[in-house]
Amino acid sequence: MRQPALTSTASFQALATHAADARHWQLRQLFAADAQRFPKFTVDAAGLFLDYSKNRLDATTVQLLLDLARERGVERQRDAMLSGEKINLTEHRAVLHTALRLPRSKDLTVDGQNVTADVHAVLDQVKDFTDRVRSGAWTGYTGKAITDVVNIGIGGSDLGPKMAVLALRSYAHPRLNMHFVSNVDGHDMDAALARVDPETTLFIIASKTFTTAETMLNAGTARNWFLCNGGKESDLARHFVAVSTNTRAVAAFGIDTANMFPFWDWVGGRYSVWSAIGLPVALAVGFGYFADFLAGAHAMDEHFREAPLEQNMPVLLAMVGFWNRQFLDASSLSIAPYHQDLNRFPAYLQQLDMESNGKRITRGGAEVDTVTCPVVWGECGTNAQHAYFQLLHQGTDVTPIDFIAALRATHDLAGHHDALLANCFAQSEAFMTGKTADEVRADLAGQGLSEAEVEALVPHKTFPGNRPSNTILMDQLTPTTLGALIALYEHKTFVQGVIWDLNSFDQWGVELGKVLAKNIQAELTGEVKPERHDSSTNGLIFMAKAAQHI
Ligand code: F6P
Repeated sequence: MRQPALTSTASFQALATHAADARHWQLRQLFAADAQRFPKFTVDAAGLFLDYSKNRLDATTVQLLLDLARERGVERQRDAMLSGEKINLTEHRAVLHTALRLPRSKDLTVDGQNVTADVHAVLDQVKDFTDRVRSGAWTGYTGKAITDVVNIGIGGSDLGPKMAVLALRSYAHPRLNMHFVSNVDGHDMDAALARVDPETTLFIIASKTFTTAETMLNAGTARNWFLCNGGKESDLARHFVAVSTNTRAVAAFGIDTANMFPFWDWVGGRYSVWSAIGLPVALAVGFGYFADFLAGAHAMDEHFREAPLEQNMPVLLAMVGFWNRQFLDASSLSIAPYHQDLNRFPAYLQQLDMESNGKRITRGGAEVDTVTCPVVWGECGTNAQHAYFQLLHQGTDVTPIDFIAALRATHDLAGHHDALLANCFAQSEAFMTGKTADEVRADLAGQGLSEAEVEALVPHKTFPGNRPSNTILMDQLTPTTLGALIALYEHKTFVQGVIWDLNSFDQWGVELGKVLAKNIQAELTGEVKPERHDSSTNGLIFMAKAAQHI
């Protein structure tokens, strides 16, 4: 159904009127005026807890936001996605990453195809293979057990498995070292190859399309390295496996298709960690924990499907993010995991959110009439505090922050976890309250400073506060809670895409650079003269050519 322009809807206009007032609200005052703010603006789901009370909103704001969600058809479109309708309009595809975590007992048939059965057939293959590698039954060409796994892939074929393997470090097999090579920059591959032994290394070539230039070049380099360092053609099958939707290209590359783990065009790259693209995760933590990871995501899917919007965590997270972006001028969103094992989570969310909703054309082909996806970025706390939190506290932009933390650690080192959580909670409090000029004066009193010296310091030491943030808590970072956390953000992204009327499941914006890179590569390596560009691009190409001929 064609959506009306967002700003023309009654619920958007009601929000805009409300925002004219609400944008001047002070969080300190909202908390002072309502002792029930915390229970009112918090929600539990699938082992996660979301506190969104430190946002500039009240119950009316939330109601108006949910009116908008209803008017834009969030529930209808959610059901369309979950049932396998072809909601990826520009590619005529269903969007069924949620089917990848359906239990075997839950049937889903789309276009006459039993999707659940297909998914579980591949999961069985993943279980069988990962059990054999982990037990040592699957060996390299000299009969030794595999000690190193190198995943070669990029974008969704890298970011998800890399983030999850790091996040689940405490659950990992002690013998298996996991490596990830994504960049076409040979330094990436060079560094990985320097650390592994061809006799005991397994390469996973992970590419949905099996045509991505970076991955194909890296895969070819790994193959040559293997063949130049003791391996023979007949040994390749023990050391190279593929994860892809493209059987023909896998066979053409020389990988035995018996060692190929398939998935389907209805799995978007950035939504694919649950498919066989998660093979490195299953290898690292074992199939049992991988199944828990899927179950955690499924629990969030069920919550998303069933909970009324008022208690629906992904919907609330999405609508609060929309409120900050749309009406409080927040052009970026900072992600602050207070958990070192979630170190790659911000990078993962960058692709999930910005490749999905970094768009300006609606599903119907019109230009959007509002801003869309904010820039997503971040770093683990407490490191981030000592890098860029200065700007977040006292800079000129207001940047909302998602704090993410586990109440209990997965290590037993004394003293660390309380220090970590104290910092996490203190930062969200500081962003909210700030520090007034009078509070600064009171602090400085009694330090023996003259009144003039005090007044000179006051503006520097004042914090405006009123900075919005969410806090997402879990008991511990486990395969289950990690699954739920990722699914939470997937659905948040989906809901925002519905509000903005975007197709969150294509990514045409990455194509232009790919085409131009091919042309320039021909100019760098071949006889083609670099004359057809602008003077800057021509100049840079000439410099590279000259440097390589020295
Ligand atoms: O960057 C564009 C993109 O298509 C991503 O969406 C995708 O995750 C990545 O490239 C890798 O694609 P593939 O898995 O086909 O190699």
